[in-house]
Amino acid sequence: MDDFFAADFERVVAPEETSLDEGIEISLRPKTLSEYIGQEKVKDNLKVYMDAALGREESLDHVLIYGPPGLGKTTLAGIIANEMKGQFRVTSGPAIEKPGDLAALLTNLNDGDVLFIDEIHRLPRTVEEILYPALEDYAIDIIIGKGPSARSLRLDLKHFTLVGATTRAGQLSAPLRDRFGVILRLETYSPKELSRIVTRSSGILGIDITSQGAIELASRSRGTPRIANRLLKRARDFAQVSGDGEITDDIAKQALDRMEIDELGLDMIDRLLLKAMVENYNGGPVGLETIAAAIGEESITIEDVYEPYLMQIGFLSRTPRGRKVTPAGYRHLGLNYPDLEDSEQISLSCDD
Ligand code: ADE
Repeated sequence: MDDFFAADFERVVAPEETSLDEGIEISLRPKTLSEYIGQEKVKDNLKVYMDAALGREESLDHVLIYGPPGLGKTTLAGIIANEMKGQFRVTSGPAIEKPGDLAALLTNLNDGDVLFIDEIHRLPRTVEEILYPALEDYAIDIIIGKGPSARSLRLDLKHFTLVGATTRAGQLSAPLRDRFGVILRLETYSPKELSRIVTRSSGILGIDITSQGAIELASRSRGTPRIANRLLKRARDFAQVSGDGEITDDIAKQALDRMEIDELGLDMIDRLLLKAMVENYNGGPVGLETIAAAIGEESITIEDVYEPYLMQIGFLSRTPRGRKVTPAGYRHLGLNYPDLEDSEQISLSCDD
C-alpha cells in the first residue's frame, strides 16, 4: 500500500468519461425522449417546448443543460437534434480556441440543426463574444482587414439551436446565461431508475441479468448511468468466468466486492481518503493540499472528482478551516466518532 498512488488508478466509479467507456456509450444512448429513462420533469417540459416549436415550424430556443458529469447531458442534446429533425454537431468549450473556429462551425449550420457545446463554461471570452449576436440575431460580425481600413461585415446565419452543457452553471457569464431560453437541470438518478437503465442496456448488449442483479449494480452506481453501464460491463465478465453467463444477485455482489466497490458505491480511493483524514488528522479539519499529499493525488482532482459524492452522501463537510469527516463518514468506516467530551479532554490535557 505504501507505493500506491491514487493518481495512477483508473476508477470504475469515476463519473467522467474514461477509456473504459469507449464505444459502449454510443451504442447505449437513447435516440428519442420516450426511450430516455428518468429526469421526468426535464422530459415533460422539454417535450412541450419541442412540440410547440415543431408546431410553429420554428427552431427550438437555445438550451442550457447543467448537472454533474455522467447523467446524460450529451445524450439529451442528441435526442433534441433527433426529435427536431436537425443535424447534431458536437464540440466543446476548450476545443474552440479562436473566434474563427466558432465562426466556421456556425456558418455551416442549417435551419433546425443543433450545435452542442460541452463544457461551455470553458469557452474563451473572445469566442463567447461572437456567440452573443449569433444566439440573439442569428448573425455574426466579422472584421475584415486591419488598422484604419478594417471593416465589419455582418453574416447571417441559419436558425440553429445551441445546446450548451456545463457541470458548473455558476461559472457561466451572466450575458451568456441570459441568452438561453430553456434551462434544464439534471439530477442524480434513483436506484430504481438506474436499474431500468441497466436492464435496457443489458437488452441492447445481449447480456442476461436478473432484476435483483440489476438492482444490486444500480444501488452501487452513485446515481450515475455512466457508472451503472460500466459496472454492467464488468459484471458481465464475472458472470461469464465465474457463473453461467447470467448476472444474478450473487454474481453482481461478487463482481462489486472484487472491484472493492461498497454498498454505497464508494471505491478504495474514497475510503483511503476518509481513512487518511481520520488516522492522520483526527478526522479534520484538514486542508485540501494536505489531504492531496497524504494520498498522492492532485488537490484539484480531490475537489472535482472525489469530494462531490462524499459531500452529497454527507460523509465529508467543508468548513472554513478545512475538510472534516462527518459522524456518518466515521460510521461507514466502522469507527466511532470522537465525541465532544473526548476532544475536550484532549484539549484539557494539552493545556496541562
Ligand atoms: N443510458 C444512459 N442514460 C440513460 C437514460 N437516462 N435513459 C436510458 N438509457 C440511458
